[in-house]
Amino acid sequence: MTVTIFEMSPRDGLQNEGRTIATADKIKLVNLLSGCGFTKIEVASFVSPKWVPQMADGAQVLAGITRRQGVSYTALAPNMRGLEAAIAANTDEVAIFASASEGFSQHNINCSIAESLARFTPMLPVVRDHDLPLRAYVSCVTDCPYDGPTPPAQVADVAAKLHAMGAYEISLGDTIGMGTPETISAMLRAVSDVVPAAALAGHYHDTQGRALDNIAASLDFGLRTFDASVAGLGGCPYAPGSRGNVATEDVVELLERLGYVTGIDRAALAKAARFARSLVEQTDAL
Ligand code: HMG
Ligand code: MG
Repeated sequence: MTVTIFEMSPRDGLQNEGRTIATADKIKLVNLLSGCGFTKIEVASFVSPKWVPQMADGAQVLAGITRRQGVSYTALAPNMRGLEAAIAANTDEVAIFASASEGFSQHNINCSIAESLARFTPMLPVVRDHDLPLRAYVSCVTDCPYDGPTPPAQVADVAAKLHAMGAYEISLGDTIGMGTPETISAMLRAVSDVVPAAALAGHYHDTQGRALDNIAASLDFGLRTFDASVAGLGGCPYAPGSRGNVATEDVVELLERLGYVTGIDRAALAKAARFARSLVEQTDAL
C-alpha cells in the first residue's frame, strides 16, 4: 500500500529561519528534493513579506527550479493577492490555510476563523478557472499556543467547511507538536465523520517527539498522506515553541518498516537532508 509524503522543507522548513536563505540555495534544495521521488513539494508561500520575510522570494524560487515531470510544486496563499502571485509564478497547486483556534488565527493571519473562510470564498472561482488543485490546512488541531486544547468538534467544523469549498485534501496541522496518539485520535474521530479519511493528511510538528506515534495512529484511521520536512527543518513564526515538521527520513523509515511503499530514494533523500541541514547550521552559526 502506498503512502504519499508531501515534502514541506522549502516552505514550512525555511519560513522560520532568522537569516534570509539565498534564493539560489532554496532552488538547490528544491532541485535535490525533485530527485528523491516526491510527487509533491511545497516550495513557496505568497504571504505578506512583512509577516514572513523569508518567503519573499517565492516567485524567483518557482522560476529558478528545474521542474521534474510527475512532481507538483505547490505554494501557500492567504488571500486573493497571494493567489494571483502564486498563479503568476506558475504554481502547480495552491493551498489555503485556516486555524481551528481563534487565538492562532488572529496571530497568524490577523483575522477570525470566520473572516479567513470569507476571505477564501472569492479565491475559489479563480482557482477553478486556472484548474489548480486546491489544498487546505487546518492549524492547531489538538492544541493552540494561545487558546490551549482545541475541541475536536472545532477542527471538524473548519475541516468540513474547507472541504466543501473544494479542497481535495485537508492537511491537519499539529502546529506546536503537542498532540499525542490519544488527542490526535480523538480529533481524527471527529474529523473523519465529516471528511473522508482519504481526503485527510497529517501535518505533524515534532516538538515533543510524538509525531511518528501520531502518524502511526493516523494510519489506523486510514490517512495515507503525511507532510514532512527533510532534516526536520522548520516551525511557524507565529506559533512560539513550534519546532520543525517531523523529519522526512524518519517518516520514510517508519512507513517502510510498517510495509508501506513511499517511492522515496533514501540515498537521494540523505543528500537533500545534508544540504538542508547545512543551510540551518549556517544560520545558527551567525
Ligand atoms: P494584514 O496585515 O492583516 O493585512 O495581514 P493587510 O491586507 O493589511 O496587509 C498588510 C501588508 O501586506 C500590506 O502592505 C499588504 O499589501 C501586504 P502595506 O500596504 O502595509 O505595504 N500583503 C501582501 N503582500 C504580499 N503578498 C500577499 C499580501 N497580502 C497582504 N499575499 C496577512 C494579513 C494574511 C496578509 C498576513 O497576516 C500574513 O501574510 N500572514 C501569513 C503568516 C504566515 O505565513 N504564517 C506561516 C504559514 S501558516 C503555517 O506555517 C501553518 C502550517 O504549516 C500548518 C501547521 O503547521 O499548522 C500551514
Ligand atoms: Mg506547519
